Amino acid sequence: MKVLGINGSPRKGGNTDILLDNALKGAQNNGARVEKIILNDLEFSPCQECENMPDDGFCIIEDDMQTIYRKVEEADAIILASPIFFGSLSAQTKMMIDRFQCVWRAKYILRKQVLGKRKIGAFISVEGSKRKDFFDNAISIVKNFFVTINADYKEELFCFGIDQKGAILKHPELLKKAFMLGAKL
Ligand SMILES: Cc1cc2nc3c(=O)[nH]c(=O)nc-3n(C[C@H](O)[C@H](O)[C@H](O)COP(=O)(O)O)c2cc1C
Repeated sequence: MKVLGINGSPRKGGNTDILLDNALKGAQNNGARVEKIILNDLEFSPCQECENMPDDGFCIIEDDMQTIYRKVEEADAIILASPIFFGSLSAQTKMMIDRFQCVWRAKYILRKQVLGKRKIGAFISVEGSKRKDFFDNAISIVKNFFVTINADYKEELFCFGIDQKGAILKHPELLKKAFMLGAKL
């Protein structure tokens, strides 16, 4: 089983990164092959709503998203991790999700199977405040994304009141929950 972790935080060694690493460790501990992508390290543009989109369901922009499409297709499980920024997903995460519009179009307009392999999905998020509605907004987008890529939304972990870089390390119970999330996948 191949588990792909996608980190949408710009902060390496930050809370999202640490939680995702723990989840991937849990998956690895149970025999999965794991890989982590840090979106902030990649070069890709936001969706350009291209008018000359081909009907094969793939995006014509040649940038690092092409690698992400391939890795998402190959994965049996995806753990998407993003901090809450301004009440929603980070820009890096949302930018990646928007680039799956080609897959959405293939699925719902052209009625074609693109990235059709069924997989399971998990969502991890962390925020500085304790406002639940910020997670609600992010969950709604992630659920929409997971349906598009044929991932069943199976697991989630939300950590609130965690602000400073690495503050999550003071919460071993949350790190354990992240580990267990990965192990369950
Ligand atoms: C640009 C920006 C916007 C943020 N917006 C929110 C917010 O709307 N609500 C909130 O609770 N925390 C917000 N935060 C705090 C982060 O969610 C928090 O620091 C989180 O732990 C960062 O995770 P990271 O270390 O993985 O990047 C924001 C932080 C930044 C940098």
